[in-house]
Amino acid sequence: MCGIIGIASNRNICKDLLDTLNRLSYRGYDSAGISIVNDKKILERKIKGKISNLENLLELSPIDGALGIGHTRWATHGKPTTLNAHPHTVNNVSLVHNGIIENFQELKNSLLNDNTFYSSDTDTEIISHLIDNELKLGKTPIDSFLNTVKKLSGAFAIVAIFKDFNNLIIAGKRGSPLVIGYNKDEKYICSDVNSLTNLTKKISYLEDGDTVILNSNRVKILDENLKKSKRSIITVSSDRVVSSLSGYDHFMQKEIFEQPDVLSQSLAYYMDFSDFKMNEDKFNIDFSKYEKIVITGCGTAYYAGMVAKYWFENIAKINIEIDYASELRYRNVLLNDKSFSLFISQSGETADTLAALKFCKDNGQTIVSIVNEVESSIAKESDLVLPIFAGPEIGVASTKAFTCQLVALASLALHIAKVKNIISIDEEKNFINELLHVPKLILDVFEKENEIKKLAKIISKSKSAIFIGRGTSYPIALEGALKLKEISYIHAEGIAAGELKHGAIALVDKNMPVIVLAPEDLFYVKTLSNMHEVISRGGNIIFIGSCLDDILENTKLQGINVETSGKLSSPIIMAVPLQLLAYHVAKLLGKDIDQPRNLAKSVTVE
Ligand code: AGP
Repeated sequence: MCGIIGIASNRNICKDLLDTLNRLSYRGYDSAGISIVNDKKILERKIKGKISNLENLLELSPIDGALGIGHTRWATHGKPTTLNAHPHTVNNVSLVHNGIIENFQELKNSLLNDNTFYSSDTDTEIISHLIDNELKLGKTPIDSFLNTVKKLSGAFAIVAIFKDFNNLIIAGKRGSPLVIGYNKDEKYICSDVNSLTNLTKKISYLEDGDTVILNSNRVKILDENLKKSKRSIITVSSDRVVSSLSGYDHFMQKEIFEQPDVLSQSLAYYMDFSDFKMNEDKFNIDFSKYEKIVITGCGTAYYAGMVAKYWFENIAKINIEIDYASELRYRNVLLNDKSFSLFISQSGETADTLAALKFCKDNGQTIVSIVNEVESSIAKESDLVLPIFAGPEIGVASTKAFTCQLVALASLALHIAKVKNIISIDEEKNFINELLHVPKLILDVFEKENEIKKLAKIISKSKSAIFIGRGTSYPIALEGALKLKEISYIHAEGIAAGELKHGAIALVDKNMPVIVLAPEDLFYVKTLSNMHEVISRGGNIIFIGSCLDDILENTKLQGINVETSGKLSSPIIMAVPLQLLAYHVAKLLGKDIDQPRNLAKSVTVE
């Protein structure tokens, strides 16, 4: 994640840009910069390192003006350097960006053919060149911006200013957060509400697909169809909890929709998208000597480990022993110096997982943990901590932490496969390129939310539900069942699709929704035949997977079409419609979604 601020005013705003960047620094701080339009010139200052470095630079070489943008960076494309810092200014335009442009390579190649000179390794600079080229053709700033954004694929937020326009900011939101702030004779655009509250408490939340044209006096918003639209202006309560809901009804809902943004940060920590290579320095253990991994966790974290089991076996060719933490600690698993132990925990404080860690540590195991809280007890006991960068997860039902855990696990699998010389450089590039598409494919799932709400209505009337899947979709079926039961209190179970006929199919009748998970993978055809076993017994199918239209032709199936992009991305993306399904069922039933009965966010008792 990166932090973005833009201010349009009629006073010098340099200090406010810096103050807001300091409030945004939790989103990343490997480099920072600002640019200001003054007297039809773009003045830019940017530098590697923390915002204090930028403040020192501006002491030495001040700039001022009434309109400008600022950025504090979490590097995704290109190392943290001054040249890669934002803003990226190219002749008539200067802009800042948060997110990942997944088709950056083809765009860059097309520009290179025109002998475009690049000063950085970033995907962001490509956007600046594309807009500048449009401006050079005589297009207006808004047309130049819109024509450029149309070419971009991925989840991103972009804010741009223009050399010849002393009072104009244009911004676009696709999957990364942006809000607008209002004051008399002054307007703002920012990555989050809390970083703006020192300037204003009157804000509007933008929606995906929105384009904003603002100056110090007015704000114009165009929706994804370029229709003028209104986003309600609310006064943010000083109450941090309400304001940190950021306009959502529940933290769980907010955290579901944060996934494109936080996943971009997790992906960027483990892999560099400018050369499609793993960031090997994140794995400071020699994994080449290990022949087995003992994996454990609880609940959703355990299901993440179950997904990773398939990746470790198929991609890294390493043996896996996996069990619930509460079981593992009482077994006598064979542990030796050819195995290491891997602990997955969002909170890093789950008692069962911590106890299992101590059991493994007492037996001489090297301890690796995948956590969201890097100062947690589990992290402190680990030889290597792999953070997930999901940000604070308030909803008891885990959502963004789960998908971020999967990114860290996929990264570990790729790293081990590489150090054991099991995958080639090209295969590494292909896997990384596949993961690059995840934020955008999750945005595509969000487009289907209204269809998911209709499916939720069906389930909300049921007493029980079954989720089935094969391969990595089996643990996703378990996770989908857990999401549903823990927030809606409807009984649900996940079953390996091939196992259904060995007993559980006796449960199937017209009142039992069977949610079939069938992404386009090597299990697809077999999962469809399991689905037909259910249909022939009068079961009520809800299909979540690929090529729904083909299947719809000969059945009266209900469901949604979900596109994935390969074996690593598939379970990450398939988890999201199930999160939304559970959320909308619980909302229909009026349940306490963020704090369900009997549960706790972190179970610190055994
Ligand atoms: C997930 O939705 C549940 N709230 C629960 O299963 C949770 O995943 C489990 O308690 C493990 O928590 P941890 O990741 O903090 O260790």
